[in-house]
Amino acid sequence: MKLVDKPAKAHKKDASAPQSGDKDASKVAQGRAELIKKPAPRANIENYEQEYATFNWDDAKKEISYFAGGKMNAAYNAVDRHIHDGRRNKVALYSVGANNKIEKLTFQDIYEQSNKIGNALKKLGVERGDRVFVFLPRVPELYTSTIAIAKVGAIAGPLFSAFGPDALRDRLIDSEAKIIITNPQLKPKLDAIRNQLPDLEYVIVVGGDKAQLGEREFTYEELVAGESEKLQCAQMDPEDPLYLLYTSGTTGKPKGVVHVHNDIVGHHMTSKWVLDLRDDDIYWCTADPGWVTGTVYGIFGPWSLGASVVSYEGRFDAASWYSLIDRLKVTVWYTAPTALRMLMKGGDDVVYAHSLESLRHITSVGEPLNPEVLRWGHKVYGLPIHDTWWQTETGMQLIVNLPCNPIKPGSMGKPLPGIYAAIVDEDGEELPPGREGKLVVRPGWPAMLREVWRNEEKYKEYFKIPGWYFSGDNAVKDEEGFFWFIGRADDVINTAGHRVGPFEVESALIEHPAVVEAGVIGKPDAERGEIIKAFIVLGNGVVQTDELLEEIKEFTKRQLAAHAYPREIEVKETLPKTRSGKIMRRLLKAWELKLPTGDTSALEDD
Ligand code: WTA
Repeated sequence: MKLVDKPAKAHKKDASAPQSGDKDASKVAQGRAELIKKPAPRANIENYEQEYATFNWDDAKKEISYFAGGKMNAAYNAVDRHIHDGRRNKVALYSVGANNKIEKLTFQDIYEQSNKIGNALKKLGVERGDRVFVFLPRVPELYTSTIAIAKVGAIAGPLFSAFGPDALRDRLIDSEAKIIITNPQLKPKLDAIRNQLPDLEYVIVVGGDKAQLGEREFTYEELVAGESEKLQCAQMDPEDPLYLLYTSGTTGKPKGVVHVHNDIVGHHMTSKWVLDLRDDDIYWCTADPGWVTGTVYGIFGPWSLGASVVSYEGRFDAASWYSLIDRLKVTVWYTAPTALRMLMKGGDDVVYAHSLESLRHITSVGEPLNPEVLRWGHKVYGLPIHDTWWQTETGMQLIVNLPCNPIKPGSMGKPLPGIYAAIVDEDGEELPPGREGKLVVRPGWPAMLREVWRNEEKYKEYFKIPGWYFSGDNAVKDEEGFFWFIGRADDVINTAGHRVGPFEVESALIEHPAVVEAGVIGKPDAERGEIIKAFIVLGNGVVQTDELLEEIKEFTKRQLAAHAYPREIEVKETLPKTRSGKIMRRLLKAWELKLPTGDTSALEDD
């Protein structure tokens, strides 16, 4: 396997660089890879082997602030400590609105604003351990609220603004959420299910009109008005919960993955080593905090290092993204393979119409990063893309392409110092290099999940063999210790980096009056990795029309989430089921991919 040149080289703008409107195709095709002339800047980690041999997580704790008696607060580390370390007036957040207006908030601003809403939450009776959910687009209040929730010792519940009423209801009921913070545009989705949420005490509406609000509903603005800018962070045990994020498994509804304040130790070290953040960086994580990447590497990790974070409320399009990088002089960029594939599809000209010379380091997560995308990125951005592997459950990057290591295109990289990962068989026996198996990790890293919310049984499944955390992914390790992703070991669908459980989609589908049965699979797709495909059985007498299928798609999108609807629907007379009535997705997948159907002895029709 050919190694890419040593990565992390800044590219220098020079007169020969293809410019906007440059029609010389060969020059454009040469790309910016030609421009890599500067030697690699020093990375925060310089010698992988040495760190791997000597690093231990207690070393990392020295970079974290603790209160007396070993108590801590992740939000204190992300925000408050920068009030005293010279970063007070540094921009913490460049918040770019959907209208492209930029709002700058310093660490002092975030400190004061989070204290105000934190004080307001306390007045509403929020106590340690209460669940407070944030259902907002990427506006400053999303950031100040999340920090405030952590400051008062409550558990933050990030939610995608794309969620529909079904997705909201499942999460708010299961977690017994006490408060939700939202805005007038998203609130109707909550209103639709409000009477099913007996535990929800208050709704806080950012930018709301008081006259439109009902009982136990407040505007964010009225709550913070007159509140003190001072608040003592709750002194938490490192093992106390910090945030609760729902994620999909193969069966049942989404599960609440519980993370704790101690996670910040892992957020900090990975942001330092993997994102390679330095004090002068302008860092853009394109992920929404409704996804673990947006919470960990869009808020806590970079802020723990005191980096300036960019948030962007607008939608994806290549020219807007590149303009944003140029406008704010983004230096470090964390994005996802689907976005990169879409950018690649957007063509080279739009890249060369922008300078992008501020970029220093690019990282990616969420799905396999195709070698051709990596090579394309190297050509047009003049920088390699560093893939990272992790999960909602792992809470931090674990298998990574560090800036100091060579990259093997298509590989997820090597375990972070402090992490032991392996490939094992069903019995937990380690397999030799080159053999495909289960990707497992030795438990005990700082950001490992601590609990599945009120579901001990589910939690235990991750640790079914003592000494290993089972990721649910299949992978292979090569002779040199690089890990290569093979696929999920279960039915979980990864569409454009979104993790979607087939059961959730099936449940939403059968809520539609025309659908009596539904089976859902991931179908390979060049751009999105996978798309969601549904096989459905229509009710007696229902006539299949294109309009009906379109309506069913729209219905699912509305109920569940914009990313979690089936892009393809196929109507069947019946679906294959086991004798206990479970739909055999494995068989649906085999049909779709025209693969051998394997053992069908459990089929009910046998
Ligand atoms: C997949 C995302 C290939 C994998 C932070 C994992 C990846 C699931 C990669 C977790 C990668 C994540 N290459 N696949 N670099 N990173 N995945 O919980 O299947 O949304 O189990 O967390 O995404 O998805 P989750």
